Amino acid sequence: MAEFPNTSLRLQTLIKTDGQLELSLADAPVPPPASDEVVVQVQASPLNPSDLAMLLGTADVSTAKQSGTADRPAITLDIPPHGRAAMANRVGKAYGIGNEGAGVVVAAGDSDGAQSLLGKTVACRGGELHAQYRTLNVAQCMLLPDDISPAEGAACFTNPMTVLGMIETMRLEGHTALVHTAAASNLGLMLNKVCTADGIGLVNIVRKPEQESLLRTLGARHVVNSESPSFQNDLVAAIGETGATLGFDAVGGGRLAGNILGAMEIALAKKMPDYSRYGSPQHKQVYIYGRLDLGEVVLPFNLGMAWSVGGWLSTYALEKIGPKGVAAIRARVLGELKTTFASRYSAEISLMQALDLETLKAYSRKATGEKYLIAPNKSD
Ligand SMILES: NC(=O)c1ccc[n+]([C@@H]2O[C@H](COP(=O)([O-])OP(=O)(O)OC[C@H]3O[C@@H](n4cnc5c(N)ncnc54)[C@H](OP(=O)(O)O)[C@@H]3O)[C@@H](O)[C@H]2O)c1
Repeated sequence: MAEFPNTSLRLQTLIKTDGQLELSLADAPVPPPASDEVVVQVQASPLNPSDLAMLLGTADVSTAKQSGTADRPAITLDIPPHGRAAMANRVGKAYGIGNEGAGVVVAAGDSDGAQSLLGKTVACRGGELHAQYRTLNVAQCMLLPDDISPAEGAACFTNPMTVLGMIETMRLEGHTALVHTAAASNLGLMLNKVCTADGIGLVNIVRKPEQESLLRTLGARHVVNSESPSFQNDLVAAIGETGATLGFDAVGGGRLAGNILGAMEIALAKKMPDYSRYGSPQHKQVYIYGRLDLGEVVLPFNLGMAWSVGGWLSTYALEKIGPKGVAAIRARVLGELKTTFASRYSAEISLMQALDLETLKAYSRKATGEKYLIAPNKSD
């Protein structure tokens, strides 16, 4: 078995009893692999919004202060009183970060599955991947094709599987077209490519003119800007053209989910032969699948009586899709990693750099095209 350290550096987050959140680097154990396990030297792991939600919780980034030492930098942030109840279960517990990543298998247990991965580049999931090494079950790893680098394969679980999970949810629930918000996100660009390739109607909602241009350049047919005075009319027109009755909303807080349902209802009512006090009988669904806005969800009154708003997580959706469907999704993701499902990063940073104050302020913005990639074994 190849050499690997007993402990490895990981990025961690801890909420202390005084209401402060501390980000630091800690030595975490790297257990020797059991029969069906492998040890992965992690070479790339993206900082996705779900990682930032765990990293920062409800802390106020404007209060962030550099602390620690040159060797072991740390950052402390205040959690405002209104954000503490949501974090109550985390107090006093240190958590590693990093839902997904990729690296090289440097040690393997004695099962055939584990041995077959030895020396290979794999994509992995399972948390705590913003770490130099992780011991993982083989089921948490996916062998990457020879021409895919760890950086290219690091983000092949979260966003690509979510995009294809959304399409399958659409089919399973009897819808034929989609509305998507924060549509210039890394995930949104992938969804646009899949819908264009597969001939699925997609209404992209963005909030800035440059995001409209970006999507149009990539071939999007329907792009509406939520900040435009004509937003609601534009949305009704795009929904009318596509027939979308399903929305995936990454923003969550505010009026957007309600705007989408309201526009669907108007578009459907226009096609009804007569007025009904109950509105259109066709079911309209918006899934809130992200919380880019932590505010309350506000719904208008005029939605008719056939609608729902729910939460949606790719993990739950993939369970419903089942092993055969998931295998097909994985195969498509692997086959299109350099094209449809390629993620772009604005910077590749080390674990130490992740704890630099200015760098934290930049990646915590979650701005369009500014996703960061952590290279845990990169020296500074
Ligand atoms: N439920 C699931 O299973 C699941 C799985 C994967 C991803 N997700 C969610 O998918 C979303 C996109 O992920 P990603 O990795 O593609 O993100 P990303 O590339 O980091 O992009 C984030 C996007 O969100 C926009 N944004 C940020 N705050 C916003 C706000 N308050 N209102 C409207 N737009 C806002 C940004 O636009 P600006 O430049 O205008 O700020 C940017 O285009 C995230 O919410 C993530 O949590 C959910």
